[in-house]
Amino acid sequence: MNANKALWEKGDFTQIAESMRGSGEALVAQFGITNGLKVLDLGCGDGTTALPAARLGAEVLGVDIASNLVKAGNARARSLGLANCRFQEGDASDLHQLEDDIFDLVVSIFGAMFAPKPFDVAKEMVRVARPGGRIIMGNWIPNDPTLVAQILKISSAYSPPPPEGFVSPMSWGVEANVIERFASAGVPEEKISFERDTYTFDFPGTPSEFLAGFKTHYGPTINAFDAAAADGREADLEAELDTLFNDQNARPSGDATSIPATFLRVTVAL
Ligand SMILES: C[S@@+](CC[C@H](N)C(=O)[O-])C[C@H]1O[C@@H](n2cnc3c(N)ncnc32)[C@H](O)[C@@H]1O
Repeated sequence: MNANKALWEKGDFTQIAESMRGSGEALVAQFGITNGLKVLDLGCGDGTTALPAARLGAEVLGVDIASNLVKAGNARARSLGLANCRFQEGDASDLHQLEDDIFDLVVSIFGAMFAPKPFDVAKEMVRVARPGGRIIMGNWIPNDPTLVAQILKISSAYSPPPPEGFVSPMSWGVEANVIERFASAGVPEEKISFERDTYTFDFPGTPSEFLAGFKTHYGPTINAFDAAAADGREADLEAELDTLFNDQNARPSGDATSIPATFLRVTVAL
């Protein structure tokens, strides 16, 4: 079994994605989507960005490694009556089922960054995008003080060392790495631009209740709790994450959760 696929099929990421819908829609609204634009959403999950793109008139294909999320995405598209949005299983580091030069826009928001073999990922994104098209990535930033980078940082301290040759997904949040990976796919540095942007996680309960959802539904957090439990350190991990979630909450009352998280927005003009 592909470990990356197993990781994301754990739990039910749709439960976390529910907290990201508002930011997904606001981000896609900035992509200049026009009727009939051909969009590939890579590592699309259950469609947080794919569905808003389709609502704006794009012809959207969502590709994700997790079969449960592909199924959930197709169900959401059906329930919204969006015949111009479909989801299929695939691996961002090997998109052999897709032809060259077919998409006007390749989007990957916190998706392709999690695929192994980042140089292959860059090559595949460039290959399936048409000349004159665009690639837009959203990547979490290593050691950033906001939520997701801190969850992954805290979790890694409770997890066994990664296997030899493992490249951290967070390495996609470093501009020099992005430039190097796209350069190896034939894209010159001047075609790549970067900005810091913010995604907000909104949840209708307390930060501790929001954390409980990560414990049961977010693959990387599930794995961290399994590893911590094996070492008898589960309570320590819980305490660290609970402090993090509560400290990051921007809602003064604390009975609802709104947590902004910074990411690196990458735009590649082909
Ligand atoms: C943090 S989720 C983000 C999902 C979605 N883009 C969103 O914004 O809600 C990461 C997604 O990347 C997918 N993924 C991880 N590795 C992948 C790979 N090698 N190829 C395709 N998708 C992958 C996971 O299954 C998961 O849906």
